Amino acid sequence: MDPVELAKVLARIVESNGVDFRDYRPETLTRGVMQRLAALRLKSIDLYLERLVTNPHEVAELTRAFLVPVTEFFRDATVFQSLATIVLPSFLWVRAPQHVLRVWSIGTATGEEAWSVAMLLDMGRQIYGYSDYQVVATDLDRTSLAVAERGVYPASALTSIPEPLRSQFTMKSGDLFEVTRGLRQRVHFESHDVVGRALAPTRAVVASFDIILLRNVLIYFDRRLQEKALERVCSVIEDDGALVLGMVETLPVDLEAHFEVFPDTDPAHRIFRRQR
Ligand SMILES: C[S@@+](CC[C@H](N)C(=O)[O-])C[C@H]1O[C@@H](n2cnc3c(N)ncnc32)[C@H](O)[C@@H]1O
Repeated sequence: MDPVELAKVLARIVESNGVDFRDYRPETLTRGVMQRLAALRLKSIDLYLERLVTNPHEVAELTRAFLVPVTEFFRDATVFQSLATIVLPSFLWVRAPQHVLRVWSIGTATGEEAWSVAMLLDMGRQIYGYSDYQVVATDLDRTSLAVAERGVYPASALTSIPEPLRSQFTMKSGDLFEVTRGLRQRVHFESHDVVGRALAPTRAVVASFDIILLRNVLIYFDRRLQEKALERVCSVIEDDGALVLGMVETLPVDLEAHFEVFPDTDPAHRIFRRQR
């Protein structure tokens, strides 16, 4: 797509809802515009730009297409296995017994990542006996967050939740399933831009976390924005805390000195431990 046309589209979005996509990767943005053009059966970008001006709903549609709020419970199951069996138990040795483990799921989309990690934390509490936990889950996309906060999903979405977690933490609600009340009390959803002005979400009373999940978000940013996001995120991880980047992201060279691959985890999972 012509960069001038793309710039016009991005200017329209920022003017309309304040979301600034200028440093997102052009490939994702172009794909998003093309998807919308096809959905609306429009033949030219000029016609589409007109539509963006006359129809605010289209700005919302395009914003969602750019944000790609796609996720699933226990996405990349082996990463969650490492969290359950290596990372979470390790905090028993490095934190005081009464310490409340604090986790931040960034770019949580419709919440499945946050609920998945909360299930592990709750089960881990029962098995290993650590004191308590709190999950803060954030995203830029309010529509996704509304789904996340409701915590209600179709049966088909639950198939990737391993037993006994599925039976323990979800229950039937009409034709759908919802996460249990106990889990809801510990997960807080909030709108937050990881590269925006506020460094940490406001619900995070103390802006420091034992574990931060930042998976499948940086891939949409250009290099400069990736570094900005990572620098900010790294400044709120506790010593010995874990940064979970997942299977597709990498740690920039500048930050390598502050992190090591989390001991005993598969380097392909890209789980890092903050060095003291
Ligand atoms: C592909 S989803 C990843 C969901 C989940 N982390 C996972 O791995 O399954 C990417 C999410 O990042 C969010 N996102 C994109 N830019 C963001 C930003 N600047 N701040 C916060 N969230 C952002 C999108 O709204 C979207 O929900």
